[in-house]
Amino acid sequence: MTTQSAPGKVILFGEHAVVYGRPAIAVPVMEVRASVSVEDAPPGSGCSINAPDVGRTFRLADVPSEDPLAAIVYETLTHLGVSEPDVTITIRSTIPIASGMGSGAAVSTAIARALAAHLGRPLDDDTVSALVFEVERLHHGTPSGLDNTVIARAQPLFFVKDRLVESFAVKSPLHLLIGDTGIPCLTKVVVADIRAAREARHEQYDSLFRQIGQITVMARGAIVAGELNALGALMDGNHWLLYQMGVSSPEIERLILAARQAGALGAKLSGAGRGGHVVALASKETQEVVAEAMLQAGAKNVISTVVS
Ligand code: PMV
Repeated sequence: MTTQSAPGKVILFGEHAVVYGRPAIAVPVMEVRASVSVEDAPPGSGCSINAPDVGRTFRLADVPSEDPLAAIVYETLTHLGVSEPDVTITIRSTIPIASGMGSGAAVSTAIARALAAHLGRPLDDDTVSALVFEVERLHHGTPSGLDNTVIARAQPLFFVKDRLVESFAVKSPLHLLIGDTGIPCLTKVVVADIRAAREARHEQYDSLFRQIGQITVMARGAIVAGELNALGALMDGNHWLLYQMGVSSPEIERLILAARQAGALGAKLSGAGRGGHVVALASKETQEVVAEAMLQAGAKNVISTVVS
């Protein structure tokens, strides 16, 4: 049996603007993971997929090739140039679904890695990321590529679509609290809405994207210098621009307000918005009270992670 896994992710800066060529910063969330095992099945039985967390068990041949779980299997087999093997693929994940934490990309990453390794042809991170990107394209329309890249590399990244992927040093640990609004984050819908809004109000949206890009560059500097107060203020600034873009919601605002009032250095929505999750920057001393405040304000769950 071959087992591989991949972490969740959270976007710290630059969502939406990244689709239009501005930089973004995302970090892996190691506390939540997708894990995939591949084992040999009897000869002639083909490939079966088992995803007990979402109540699905099926044979590869019985679902459309665009099914997200099937699509990454086909992408991987095509890349390796091999035909359908006799294997059982079992998927487990602790990453919340449809909350903007990269659950789909992490599951795809773990499947590609585990399947290729089981077939004796392990893949490097960039190849896995490219295969996962193809599947993201099927389901998200015009993804920037940020999710698949940060999940495959499992390190904090400064990312510019089609141009730049850089890791950087984190001087002081970042104590992050990720609060789930419990409202599904429909990335494809929100990204399409922003595209339509930009077509109608080009100047306004390009100005928002440009300001987000500037904040993201400053945020990288603050992380490298360990200036956490400045970093928190930049998160607040990025959130205000996302709010003006129309991707916040009353539930998101409640969690952000609660986190700030409980002493967070900054807080913002993360991912496509409207639902999904909020990320707050706390300190070691304040992290528990900030998490508790977010729960009191209606968060369905709060994940605590430290980026260092
Ligand atoms: O909702 P998520 O976490 O998958 O993130 C979407 C991020 C966007 O910038 C809105 C879209 C993208 O492809 O980068």
